[in-house]
Amino acid sequence: MRTTVGIIGAGPAGLLLARLLHNAGIDAVVLESHDRAYVERRQRAGILEQGTVDVLRAAGAGRRMDREGLRHDGIELRFDRRRHRIDFPGLTGGRSVMVYAQTEVCKDLIALQLEEGGPLLFEAEALAVEDADTDAPRVRFRHQGREDVLECSYVAGCDGFWGVSRRAVPAGLTRVFERTYPFGWLGILADVAPSHDELVYARHDRGFALLSMRSPSVSRLYLQVPDGTDAAAWGDEEIWDELERRFETADDWRLERGPITQKSVTPMRSFVHEPMRHGRLFLAGDAAHIVPPTGAKGLNLAVGDVVTFARALVHLEQTGSPELLDSYSETCLRRVWQAERFSYDMTTLLHRLPGATPFEDRLQLARLERIAGSRAAETDLAEAYTGFPLDRG
Ligand code: FAD
Ligand code: DHB
Repeated sequence: MRTTVGIIGAGPAGLLLARLLHNAGIDAVVLESHDRAYVERRQRAGILEQGTVDVLRAAGAGRRMDREGLRHDGIELRFDRRRHRIDFPGLTGGRSVMVYAQTEVCKDLIALQLEEGGPLLFEAEALAVEDADTDAPRVRFRHQGREDVLECSYVAGCDGFWGVSRRAVPAGLTRVFERTYPFGWLGILADVAPSHDELVYARHDRGFALLSMRSPSVSRLYLQVPDGTDAAAWGDEEIWDELERRFETADDWRLERGPITQKSVTPMRSFVHEPMRHGRLFLAGDAAHIVPPTGAKGLNLAVGDVVTFARALVHLEQTGSPELLDSYSETCLRRVWQAERFSYDMTTLLHRLPGATPFEDRLQLARLERIAGSRAAETDLAEAYTGFPLDRG
């Protein structure tokens, strides 16, 4: 099999890239190791930055998002039983975010790809990227029990953190920056209307909690738990009791309970692989970088990467100049490190480190007081949360 761009992975990065290339008249083949149902059901991110929303709309993939997504103009920070709202449009000149789940983004992009786009092969596992530093890179893969080769002009490694494409970059040319955290998030989906109409990020002496949502009738909630926690070890009522404690306010706000339909634990990690390009292999999304989820940057970063890559390829086609492809890694990494910084700041602002001293607790509260008391500090948070415009890198 032969194509211009071989895309490994049908997560948000690979699927959006396929759509952008299709719209630009550049052919591509997508290889995805899992089946369609798995990709469409994997519960992950929920918040789309303004720039991501704009990209999906411009790509012709925003129709259902515009019907069913929930525009959010702010978030609430909760600490010391107090509530402080951050007003996004008021602080950023009109920017906001959209609550629309990653599962739905993927369903929309898969449907478009199967109707209008090039080949998207499920249960097709890439085994290795070969000859990445030549003009004819290849992806060896297994599909329907047979090994095959995809000959490409370019390979996009969109295969997530556990994928194979990163391995094609020689270790001697690679620098990895990593941090793990001694806690994770226990996430639940519950059939109950969200108890607040905006997201609530709560700092509590017992640990962080987040109230989010998937629709007007489905809540998504998270609890900070120690590393290695087994989700099944938490009973449903135990989860609600703990959420209630961490969200407690001095006023009459109440957390509504409902049937829990899904439970899982997500570990937390910061990770950056430099460079994001080796020859004709371009890494995008979680294949190149991971952020802890606090602040919801993961999916949005993946979108930024593939937009940058698609633009660079179009630029090459139109002008003959590889300059944007050559600066791909540098352009993406500027944005990636801003997201790493923000996600780290939000994580350390709101989570309780095991063994935190009373001094550190007070500092954390002082950081929150600073945000609540200073328009400059609020603006800094609001700008990063709603996302920096894509073209600023
Ligand atoms: P992925 O979504 O990981 O997609 C990669 C795809 O490649 C997968 O479909 C995988 O099956 C496929 N693949 C892997 N190896 C191969 C191979 N060898 N051959 C072919 N295909 C392959 N972000 C947030 O903003 N908020 C959250 O709450 C949040 N929660 C998360 C929870 C978990 C458990 C994880 C892992 C991530 C979470 N994230 C969250 C991050 C966000 O979901 C990711 O940043 C986003 O999915 C990145 O998209 P991607 O396309 O780069 O990678
Ligand atoms: C969600 C996840 C996040 O990491 C976050 O900061 C906000 C919302 C969510 O899954 O809804």
